[in-house]
Amino acid sequence: MKNISIFISGRGSNLESILKKRNSGFFDASIPFVLSNKEDAMGLQVAKRYNIPTHVFNIKSFPSRNDFEKALLDLLEKHSIDLIVLAGFMSILSKDFITSFGKPIINIHPSLLPAFPGLNAQKRTLEYGAKFAGCTVHFVTANVDAGPIILQDVIPIFDDDTEETITMRLLEREHLLLPEAIKIIVEDRFQIIGRRVIVEK
Ligand code: GRF
Repeated sequence: MKNISIFISGRGSNLESILKKRNSGFFDASIPFVLSNKEDAMGLQVAKRYNIPTHVFNIKSFPSRNDFEKALLDLLEKHSIDLIVLAGFMSILSKDFITSFGKPIINIHPSLLPAFPGLNAQKRTLEYGAKFAGCTVHFVTANVDAGPIILQDVIPIFDDDTEETITMRLLEREHLLLPEAIKIIVEDRFQIIGRRVIVEK
């Protein structure tokens, strides 16, 4: 069975959807711990409710980014983690970290990448005047929000939509998409050809 770690910084609604789906048998994996880079992340309470151990690693309490990432790598190795899932983790992992970990890291982003990478994606999608918004699960590479795309979903934008309504409707889709991507990875049902992730049914 694969070991997954989920990294969060905030609310933890994607974390909750992953834990629910895992508990219902949607995918088979062990989750030895949830990691937050913020002491006050609400998602830490979600992990506790599901009896998942938590670790808080705040980069500010380490002398350097290098020390922070070294401690993180030690923790991941101790628990033989095979996959890192970034679920609202608001810190950038360095190229060295990604290379040293050497196993898949995936992220969920609230836009139809490659459109609107970075912060406030829903707001920028709406303000741009796009007629559709979306969410993307992708592999994490050194360039932010630019790794190979695993899954995407799309929703229409209505005239009376606000940043909040789009965010909420996207979250419903995110809660299905991220567990689906985890299932694909833990079941080894994908190949990467160039930039394309081909998913086997
Ligand atoms: C989501 O919008 C996700 O797409 C983005 O961060 C947010 C996390 O929300 N990467 P939550 O903490 O899972 O509720």
